[in-house]
Amino acid sequence: MTRAHILGTGSYVPEKVLTNHDLSKIVDTSDEWIVERTGIRERHMAAPHEATSDMAVAAGLRALEMAKTRPEELDAIIMATITPDTPMPACAALVAHKLGAKKAFGFDLAAACAGSLYGLSIASQYIQTGGAKRVLVLGAELLTRIVDWTDRNTCVLFGDAAGAMVIGPSPDPSRGVLSTHLHIDGAGAGILQIPAGGSREPVTADIIAQRLNKVAMNGREVYKFAVRSLTDAVNEALAHNHLEASAVTHVLAHQANIRILEAVLGRVGIPMEKAWLNIHRFGNTSSASLPMTCDEANRAGRLKEGDHILMMAIGAGMAWGSAVVRW
Ligand code: ACO
Repeated sequence: MTRAHILGTGSYVPEKVLTNHDLSKIVDTSDEWIVERTGIRERHMAAPHEATSDMAVAAGLRALEMAKTRPEELDAIIMATITPDTPMPACAALVAHKLGAKKAFGFDLAAACAGSLYGLSIASQYIQTGGAKRVLVLGAELLTRIVDWTDRNTCVLFGDAAGAMVIGPSPDPSRGVLSTHLHIDGAGAGILQIPAGGSREPVTADIIAQRLNKVAMNGREVYKFAVRSLTDAVNEALAHNHLEASAVTHVLAHQANIRILEAVLGRVGIPMEKAWLNIHRFGNTSSASLPMTCDEANRAGRLKEGDHILMMAIGAGMAWGSAVVRW
């Protein structure tokens, strides 16, 4: 069987930094509260002229360069985002055009913060079956445009960024994506959502006045759901690969909240030192978070050949999953 591998990684963050102190001038909050409850110190915010596709292209080009792949060689572009430039057409179309990926097909994938993990899984299947040789998986989000800036429960959590992974056949069949496990459960739909603005309740002046077209969250419930389901997904991944927790070399996780990660790793018996953390600098960047974390760890030289990398992500849906990659 042809195994898929991550051949290149890239990321992009907009220049402007928004600190917790800056936020304390907008809503009733403090640096101390945000750091203690979430681990976040600052996040980046896109410039007015930037859109999601612009950030995705910047991250994608870096990943393509590392993978020594030209845009024309791409067979597919999987664009994980809940903040596409426009509701129609797909953001993947705009990205393909800007990159000059002439022969690629592409689509948007709406699994929120789990989007890039879903993308990795789909790309791996294409590589394994021979349906594609090079797939660009992108996670890019411009969350600062969809948060409610009057709601301190949510606006302090999110940031803008993009991450990218080029997926192709592994040169060594013992290395690459060993497994992915994905889940979705709409019973959790109401705990993290944008309540209106879709087909059920299209945008009206009243919807906008009530801010129902912005992110709304029950933080407590998200926390409980996330810890329970990520713990299960990690155990599922370890059991599938006959790996003990101690065999995991590094953890690359969606950076939602430091306390969720501490709780999950505590339950499965993996020390926090194995996790690459950047939530303090970028906040929760949804689908961008996992590929961006992978890119940082990769470019820092942290990931060595043969290492077992455990990945996990969870987002609105609720949608979640895990993966094991032998680097
Ligand atoms: N600054 C100051 N106070 C705040 C803030 C803030 N930014 N936000 C909420 N509070 C207040 C609340 O209003 C509440 O006050 P009250 O007691 O007077 O009503 C108090 O803090 C406690 O609120 P809780 O929601 O109970 O606080 P909790 O300890 O649960 O922490 C948090 C909130 C950090 C959101 C937590 O629930 C959490 O980590 N949830 C997970 C949510 C998450 O990570 N979401 C990310 C998106 S989903 C994803 O990526 C998986």
